[in-house]
Amino acid sequence: MYYRADEHHGLKHNPFKALVAPRPIGWISTRDAEGQVNLAPFSYFNAITDFPPTVVFGCNGAHPQGGMKHTVDNVREAGEFVVNMVTWDLKDHMNKTAAHLPRNESEFKAAGLTPVDCEIVKAPRVKESPVNLECRLIQVIQLKSSNPKVINNMVVGEVVGVHIDERIIKDGMIDIASYQPVARLGYMDYAVINETFSMDRPD
Ligand SMILES: Cc1cc2nc3c(=O)[nH]c(=O)nc-3n(C[C@H](O)[C@H](O)[C@H](O)COP(=O)(O)O)c2cc1C
Repeated sequence: MYYRADEHHGLKHNPFKALVAPRPIGWISTRDAEGQVNLAPFSYFNAITDFPPTVVFGCNGAHPQGGMKHTVDNVREAGEFVVNMVTWDLKDHMNKTAAHLPRNESEFKAAGLTPVDCEIVKAPRVKESPVNLECRLIQVIQLKSSNPKVINNMVVGEVVGVHIDERIIKDGMIDIASYQPVARLGYMDYAVINETFSMDRPD
């Protein structure tokens, strides 16, 4: 089949997210000017450069209680954020933090997670997550929107500090079987890695 992206696909559900899959989940923690902490998952997320390490995520739509999603407001305000990686044992906690809570309610508390101080940025990291990337904002880029009710923002950040739980390091390398990162598929589906393979590059 083929469909023009500006026309209806004719399927039961929009297939786009199920096609660009699996996507890692950036679980973004932030702190606003009043010190209030926020945590939310974003699967329009990835790493895009090594030197320096850079990450992006798409914060799209609006907060149902009005205004933008709290994450992008806080990132703009503070110029910082933390990417916490979601693992198999944290999947239900992650899901709870997707709730659209009022600004003065912390998703850390609602999901029973522990905010701990970072080394460089003021935003807290999730203690229970084995990987936390402290980030400084490079730019928030407003992208085109084809829905008048939706604002699409791409947040680009430089990773300035990396926390890794020693338990996922084996022989100096990240052991994916111990790490068990969770990825987002389409619809309500997720994946966890049960099998990996290696390939050498041609040159
Ligand atoms: C697995 C998962 C992935 C999500 N990915 C995105 C995303 O990439 N972009 C987005 O705007 N919202 C995404 N959401 C929804 C946000 O997490 C949700 O709107 C959240 O309440 C925003 O919180 P905030 O207002 O505190 O920033 C996702 C939700 C889940 C459960």
